[in-house]
This record gives sequence, structure tokens and C-alpha cells, in this order.
Amino acid sequence: MDAAVSPAARDKGDVEALVRLAQADMTAVDAHIIARMQSPVPVIPKLAEHLIAAGGKRLRPLITVAAARAAGAGDDIEASRKLAAAVEFIHTATLLHDDVVDGSELRRGKVAAHLIWGAPTSLLVGDFLFARAFELMVETDSMRALGILAKASSVIAEGEVLQLTRAHDLNLDRDTYLEIITAKTAELFAAAAESGAVGAGADDARVGALRAYGLNLGIAFQLADDALDYGGASAALGKNAGDDFNEGKATLPLLLAVQRTRGREDAFWERTITKGERTEDDFRRARELVVGSGAIGATLDLAGDYADAAKAALATLPDSEWKTALEKLADFAVSRAA
Ligand code: IPE
Ligand code: IPE
Ligand code: MG
Ligand code: MG
Repeated sequence: MDAAVSPAARDKGDVEALVRLAQADMTAVDAHIIARMQSPVPVIPKLAEHLIAAGGKRLRPLITVAAARAAGAGDDIEASRKLAAAVEFIHTATLLHDDVVDGSELRRGKVAAHLIWGAPTSLLVGDFLFARAFELMVETDSMRALGILAKASSVIAEGEVLQLTRAHDLNLDRDTYLEIITAKTAELFAAAAESGAVGAGADDARVGALRAYGLNLGIAFQLADDALDYGGASAALGKNAGDDFNEGKATLPLLLAVQRTRGREDAFWERTITKGERTEDDFRRARELVVGSGAIGATLDLAGDYADAAKAALATLPDSEWKTALEKLADFAVSRAA
């Protein structure tokens, strides 16, 4: 390997290779997305287009089609493509809702929809996209896939609510934190992979392997996301670094930094997180403490363990370029800068 190529750049290149491999599938998925976000009520496609045309990584639908392919889908992949579009709609709906809940100002490098159209419209268009996702699923005639994605939708909402009730809690334990990120994020990655395999008619062993892959990858992905909120750059992320701190969200990098600076910085954390009294300059200080205490590295190490578990889950699948691509995607989930 070229020594000048960093692991992060290599992983990014690997994902670009997967995107090329899945190009025909993803073009079809995008066509479903564009067709199904239309409505005679003009603000709906306008708002949806604002968010959807901004791109996003499209990781979840990519996982759905790659899982279908890795599970041995032949030419009959249309059901999995529709399920992939449904998965992206569910994700997009949760982003619309989440940005209202989190008071976030930037999403995919653009002003958050609720700041342009208001929170009520943003929430209702989120509901519309959720409902459209279910229409797409019904069209696949797969009660099993419908069940998987319906369950994921309720679990995501549970995760978001659980997180709300535990914000500002500096004593949140690691298991509860993991429970929250599993529900709010990993469950959809799991359902994305599982439903892709189901849509492709895979047997139970392959469906189970792909579900385990998605679940572990999703946990790794959110751990990395939580690290990036302190260690990343807003320009690359397309959302504001510091949002988690400014909401008083108890993420692992914060919790570890609080533990590691105990006795020295208690008053700072108490004021900024527990009481929610923050000044402009506090995030800069928090970032220094989180980075300086090694909390980012520890969070990414744990993310790496989950990425390894995701890769291990694929062991029973037959070797294929799709399986290799999924393995590489697990590394990207941890090393990504965006
Ligand atoms: C954002 O997900 C929400 C999280 C689970 C952190 P992504 O980072 O996949 O968002 P897009 O779709 O690429 O914008
Ligand atoms: C991600 O939530 C999960 C969902 C959107 C359900 P976050 O609040 O952690 O993600 P970002 O940082 O807004 O993308
Ligand atoms: Mg958010
Ligand atoms: Mg949130």
C-alpha cells in the first residue's frame, strides 16, 4: 500500500468503490426517492428536495442493496431497491424531526428545514416521508420486510425519547448510552441490511448475519458521529460541531472526559451540562478537555471494536465483491470525517 495514503483516505476510497459497484442499484433507488417525494401540495416536494438534493451519504440504502447482493440476490432485486428507498425516507423523516428536537441549524451543509419553513411544516413533511416509506414497503408484498422496518421505526422513536429524558445527566452509565444509540441509530442500519436480505429471498442464516452486521456497524457509526461532534469540522460534517455539547447531550466522549477530569473540572461540567448555563466560549474549552483527556481516541477504539464485530458477522456469507465492500464500509464508519 502507498504509505502516503492515510487509513481514512483509503476507507473513503473503498466506499467510493462500493458506490460504483452499486451504481445501477442506487440510480434506481434514487429514481424511487424522487418519484415518491412528489405531492400536489407544493411545500412538500420543495422542503423534501431541499434536504434530499443536498445529498447525504445514502449509506443506509447502500447497505440495503449491498446486503441483498451479498445475500445472493439475482436479477430480481426490485423489492430490495424499493425497500432501500423506504429506508432512506425513514432516515430523512427522522432527520427532519431530530433537527427540530435538537434545535440544529445546519444539515447536509444547508440551513435546517425548520429554520426556513418552520417547525410545524418540517415535522409534518417528516410524517409525510414516513408514510411514503410505508407505501413503498407495502408495494413489495413482503410482510416480513414491513414488520422489520415498522419495528425499527418505533425503536428509533423510543431511542430519541429515552435520550431526551437522559440529557444533562453526567452520571449516565455506558450501558444506557449504548442502549440509546442502538435504538436511535443502529436499529435502522440493522433493519436496512436485514430487509435487503429479506427482499432478496435469503435464508434465515444470511438474514441473521446481515442484521448483526448492520446493528454493529450502526453502533460504530454513531460512536464515531459522537466523536466527530467534538473532534470533527463543521464544514466537512455539513452540520455544526458542538451541537451535542450545546444541547447538554450525554454522549460517550463527554462522559469519558467528565470522568477523566474529575476533581479538576467538576464545576465547569456542572455549569455547562447539568445546569445548561453556557457562554460562547465554552465549547472551545469543552473540546480541549474532551480531546486532551483522550476521550475521542477511547470512543473511536470502541467504535473500532463494533466495526470488527460487524465484519465478523459476515463470515458465514459466501465470498463476493459485495461482501468485501460491506467489510470495508465498516471501517469507513469509524474513520470517516463526514
Ligand atoms: C445522521 O446520519 C444521523 C446520525 C445517525 C448520526 P448520516 O450521517 O448518515 O446523515 P446523511 O444522510 O449522510 O446526511
Ligand atoms: C441521530 O441523532 C439519530 C436520529 C436522527 C434518529 P443525532 O441527533 O445524534 O444526530 P445528528 O448529529 O443530529 O446528525
Ligand atoms: Mg441531532
Ligand atoms: Mg438527536
